[in-house]
Amino acid sequence: MSTREPMSAVDVIRAKRDRGRLSDEQIDWVVDAYTRGVVADEQMSALAMAIFLNGMDAAETARWTAAMVDSGETLALKSGRPTVDKHSTGGVGDKITLPLAPLVAACGAAVPQLSGRGLGHTGGTLDKLESIPGWRARLSTEEIVHQLDTVGAVVCAPTEGLAPADRKLYALRDVTATVESIPLIASSIMSKKIAEGADALVLDVKTGSGAFMRTLADSRALASALVEIGVQRGLRISALITEMSVPLGRAVGNAVEVAESVEVLRGGGPEDVVELTLALAREMLSLAGLSVDPAPVLASGQAYETWCRMIAAQGGDPDAPLPKPAHVHMVPAPEDGTLTRLDAYGVGVAAWRLGAGRARKEDPVQAAAGIICHAKPGDTVRAGEPLLELHTDTPDAVPAALDALDGAFAVSGAAAGPAPLVHETIRG
Ligand code: URA
Repeated sequence: MSTREPMSAVDVIRAKRDRGRLSDEQIDWVVDAYTRGVVADEQMSALAMAIFLNGMDAAETARWTAAMVDSGETLALKSGRPTVDKHSTGGVGDKITLPLAPLVAACGAAVPQLSGRGLGHTGGTLDKLESIPGWRARLSTEEIVHQLDTVGAVVCAPTEGLAPADRKLYALRDVTATVESIPLIASSIMSKKIAEGADALVLDVKTGSGAFMRTLADSRALASALVEIGVQRGLRISALITEMSVPLGRAVGNAVEVAESVEVLRGGGPEDVVELTLALAREMLSLAGLSVDPAPVLASGQAYETWCRMIAAQGGDPDAPLPKPAHVHMVPAPEDGTLTRLDAYGVGVAAWRLGAGRARKEDPVQAAAGIICHAKPGDTVRAGEPLLELHTDTPDAVPAALDALDGAFAVSGAAAGPAPLVHETIRG
């Protein structure tokens, strides 16, 4: 410890290890000192594990969030229209941002969406969009503000200076088994969203096998923690708890999810993707104070026009053909009957192993890798007909993907009742 530091990391770790509350001063100091490199990675790892095991109460979590916001710059992503953002806690086939951002912009709001990359079995919005030839994720703050004013929607990478404490801590949590902690997840997500400066935020908190939080009770607790932080910071905020035990839509991967999103923007696409896009759009527009029904805007092609302008503004060619895989492997239905199970986690891991995702944050992803689900639970299937279509540029990856799919689907004579897509809404 430098002689000028007001406290010691060991005392802060010990307090949480012994199930104490951290004081505001301890939280402010430890987050700041970690960002400055005074608190070492091994000390922050120990503290993250103590928080993982012993938790933080709502006041500690709010203070931790504020300290992470203050570790970097805050953007005032304002425009002439009300700004409203959406954040998903991550799922399999979750391409909703792609149709949603241009749809909500076409309805009159401004949508600044600073998005992430995939890690593990859940995909990343930026990886998906980068399969569009020419599209670039990195924009300056001036470019973001200009695009919000001219197009109304921007989906891009967070600027370098946004919540640097979270960037460091998230990378550390990823390698220390401390990701799945409600106060750490809630403060991580909300620090970035608060620093971004939108007026309103809708959270899509996933629940089920393909989500961080697998049970409804845990997802509800995470949603409540997120909403509480937002309310304390004066944000207009809601959380929808949505189903993630089955992949969303039929496409899982990068280019394949862009293609499916374009289908939705052109008035088609799978029912569940359309339903969730409209549910989130309604909530975002309501928080933005706009009484517009998004359904006709989606059906009319106006949202598709905004999509084309949004992609072109970031150097992408919305009409360019998307990358095609070098190799396609078909998984047939094992018997006649009804598909009763298609496990989001198994399909997500398989797509990841085919090259759609990355194991380490510096790994590249394959634009063309992914899976097309030819059937969803409740659909009738016939023995030998295509069930899952695996796309990859590296055929050696297929056996590992097939291992991930072992037990991930089931066909039987019984009909499967679909789970509701939106379980509940928590409003701030
Ligand atoms: N997404 C984040 O941004 N942070 C987490 O901790 C988990 C998911």
